[in-house]
Amino acid sequence: MSLAVRDAQLREMMDDPDCDPVRLRRTLERFAITNRFVAGWGRTYRDVIGPALAALDRPARILDLGCGGGDVLRRVVQAARRDGFDVTALGIDPDDRAIATTRPMDAVTYRIADSRQLLAEGSTFDVVISNHVLHHLDERALRGFLEDSSSLATGLCVHSDIRRAPLAYTAYAVGITPIAPGSYLRTDGLRSIRRSFTPEELSAILPPGWTVETSRPFRVLAVHRSSRA
Ligand SMILES: C[S@@+](CC[C@H](N)C(=O)[O-])C[C@H]1O[C@@H](n2cnc3c(N)ncnc32)[C@H](O)[C@@H]1O
Repeated sequence: MSLAVRDAQLREMMDDPDCDPVRLRRTLERFAITNRFVAGWGRTYRDVIGPALAALDRPARILDLGCGGGDVLRRVVQAARRDGFDVTALGIDPDDRAIATTRPMDAVTYRIADSRQLLAEGSTFDVVISNHVLHHLDERALRGFLEDSSSLATGLCVHSDIRRAPLAYTAYAVGITPIAPGSYLRTDGLRSIRRSFTPEELSAILPPGWTVETSRPFRVLAVHRSSRA
């Protein structure tokens, strides 16, 4: 199997509304483990989000689009509070099964919703993030997602995803083995890598105002900065 070409036709098991609910719940809960090892949010917080919060110099609102079980948002909020920032946060996901796996945290709320709903409500946020959502979307949905997120953000948008690479595929296939049983982590993780973008592919479909940052191994960040605060 070659990873030279993005396989946008592959469907992930978790995107099937009729997938096994127990396996799905385990998958969403165990994302907290895989995200910690593969998603690089410590570095993304340090290099991108922390400086944006520091520049604000006032309480900040953070939004996580497609938050799943919410672990990435909790980590970002924890890091911000460690740095002394006053933050409140909202995680949204259109899938009620994802929101059902979130865990409470002070001043962090979760809702079943999509970006369209928040726009219709007139909501705005200082920082909008997502993790592992871009590769799930077809091209039309991806454009809408990026447009909505930059409209919802008065400051920074940072969408983090896998960078497709043979070594990422091999390392994940081996590394996921201990925690994969009874979940979709193995099947969907490997499909995710095959669906994911190279920096060049992502760059080619990003609208004006967005850039791709690639300083983390096996990651791509789609970043948009504005100053509508
Ligand atoms: C691979 S999961 C990632 C979940 C979480 N961000 C994480 O990293 O653990 C992808 C998530 O994106 C959500 N999703 C799918 N389409 C979406 C959309 N158009 N807008 C927001 N979230 C979406 C799914 O419901 C799912 O929870």
